Amino acid sequence: MKAPIRVAITGAAGQIGYNLLFRIANGDMLGREQPIILQLLDIPPAQQALRGVAMELEDCAFPMLQQVITTDDARVAFRDAEVVLMVGAKPRGKGMERKDLLEANGAIFSEQGRILDEVAARHVKVLVVGNPANTNALIAMKNAPGLDPRNFSAMMRLDHNRAITQVALKLFQPIQDIKKMVIWGNHSGTQYPDLSHAEVRGRKVIDILRQNGWEEWSEKEFIPTVQKRGAAVIEARGLSSAASAANAAIGHVHDWLLHSHHNDWVTMSVPSDGSYGIPEGVLYGFPVTCRNGNYQIVKDLPISELGRKHMMDSYNELLGERELVKHLLR
Ligand code: NAI
Repeated sequence: MKAPIRVAITGAAGQIGYNLLFRIANGDMLGREQPIILQLLDIPPAQQALRGVAMELEDCAFPMLQQVITTDDARVAFRDAEVVLMVGAKPRGKGMERKDLLEANGAIFSEQGRILDEVAARHVKVLVVGNPANTNALIAMKNAPGLDPRNFSAMMRLDHNRAITQVALKLFQPIQDIKKMVIWGNHSGTQYPDLSHAEVRGRKVIDILRQNGWEEWSEKEFIPTVQKRGAAVIEARGLSSAASAANAAIGHVHDWLLHSHHNDWVTMSVPSDGSYGIPEGVLYGFPVTCRNGNYQIVKDLPISELGRKHMMDSYNELLGERELVKHLLR
């Protein structure tokens, strides 16, 4: 039997947590042959609820779940963790400005970054889900100088999945045939869902759209629908996306640690390395291929003038966020 992997999850008593834990314990993220230990973190008032979730996990008798640890101490949760999903974050309260939200979450992610640096496995892979995810991930990364920056990422996979489905619905094609989608930039309203590289069974999506006289669909419908999907779900459900966010987190970590599909890529927000003219210093959504815990940014995709504008708008927003939290970046 393989050695167990310690998976730490913050905000584990929240709604995404509830949709995430059982699927991870079932092997959806790391495979059905991989024993795991879940190390669940939440704040003190959520401990009772967290214990209830742990009881339910026990009651599932998942064969690969070796242990469940619940705690309000990040040192306990992150100790020797090889995978960390940072979901816990402060939600935007009434009358709270964006700056206040960045500040409140900055405090959480700088402290948790420092603790990761102290106690997590040196090869730990970190996915930040809690919003504002890209900048929270930057803060955690900068506060963990002993860890490889390439081991920090933020979640754009939900946006990626949303975009694929919109194309599949528009063209009446199966989901699994839509390949090479990209969401550039920030996980926010400025993100750039880009279907100019997308293909359906080898044919360019833009050619099919053009053939049908739907040239304007991308700018007028597709991009705004994907950008505003989170708000539309809140409007309809009264709560933010949880099951779909958990599903995206599982897909992100699965592909990163194991592999992305042949002849396709996924979107991950990772530290910019100058690719596509996006300067270093922010976490930015790029198309990547993954294998065995490594990712490579897909290079040299042609970018239109309008596409470049969208990409820079999102980059500039990230720069603005960075400016607001610069005192937290070591
Ligand atoms: P939730 O409010 O149901 O749960 C959040 C949990 O985090 C709560 O149990 C809370 O007690 C906990 N928490 C707060 N501060 C903490 C801290 N310092 N340490 C540990 N735990 C802490 O929220 P939900 O729906 O589970 O969403 C979590 C985050 O994910 C939010 O920031 C949300 O905006 C974000 N999100 C990100 C998406 C993405 O695509 N990147 C998609 C959907 C949500």
